[in-house]
Amino acid sequence: METLSASTTLGELVTARPGRSRVFESFGLDYCCKGQQSLEEACAAAGQDLSQVLEKLAAFDAQADGEKEPDYAAMSLSELAEHLVRTHHAYLKEEMPELAKLIDKVFRVHGRKFPWLEKVRQVSFAMFMELDAHLQKEEMVLFPMVQQLEQATSTPSFHCGSIDAPIRVMLMEHDSAGEALAQLRELTSGYTVPPDGCNSFRAMMDRLQTMEYDLHRHIHKENSLLFPKVLELADKMGC
Ligand SMILES: [Fe+2]
Ligand SMILES: [Fe+2]
Repeated sequence: METLSASTTLGELVTARPGRSRVFESFGLDYCCKGQQSLEEACAAAGQDLSQVLEKLAAFDAQADGEKEPDYAAMSLSELAEHLVRTHHAYLKEEMPELAKLIDKVFRVHGRKFPWLEKVRQVSFAMFMELDAHLQKEEMVLFPMVQQLEQATSTPSFHCGSIDAPIRVMLMEHDSAGEALAQLRELTSGYTVPPDGCNSFRAMMDRLQTMEYDLHRHIHKENSLLFPKVLELADKMGC
């Protein structure tokens, strides 16, 4: 394992050891949409103490030594795309409709006492709609192009233009999801259940927080692993 350095980007640190994302989550450091920031820059931006973050990372690494994690960086582009669909996409497709029902129920029962629940409902529903279309675009357009590119022996021609155009759109949509998640975290005061919150309230907060974590890891794998490799290959193939 490499030595930890303040100049390494958050994306690289999580790529080398995916579990480090938990440390970054606990300090509010954005390793997915802003994964290209160095550790030092990210700490400055989030107002966190660099030495404290380095200490926690070292402690995490020491504890995690010997644990087996899939080596996402070693996967082929098609394998990585398939992994994304089987895990993160499948989770979202199953979870979004269920969580939407729960958010709606909590809003209807507790919305009068906690008026911010209306905004939680609005922001999360808009994010679910965007994500629904986003997953479709990746699965129907971008990932098949990735597979075609990886299997090509000569410069492939894509019927919908170059591959960097859909990647740019996906990056913009990731930023939008990242902003929605930040808004949800703020609205819910870090997913805090009110003292008199019922079990549905508790379940809603817990599932929103789980979705935040899963989406952060999902976006990290696309922004910092898959997309840069696809663009590098497309460049090599001259398309
Ligand atoms: Fe995805
Ligand atoms: Fe995506």
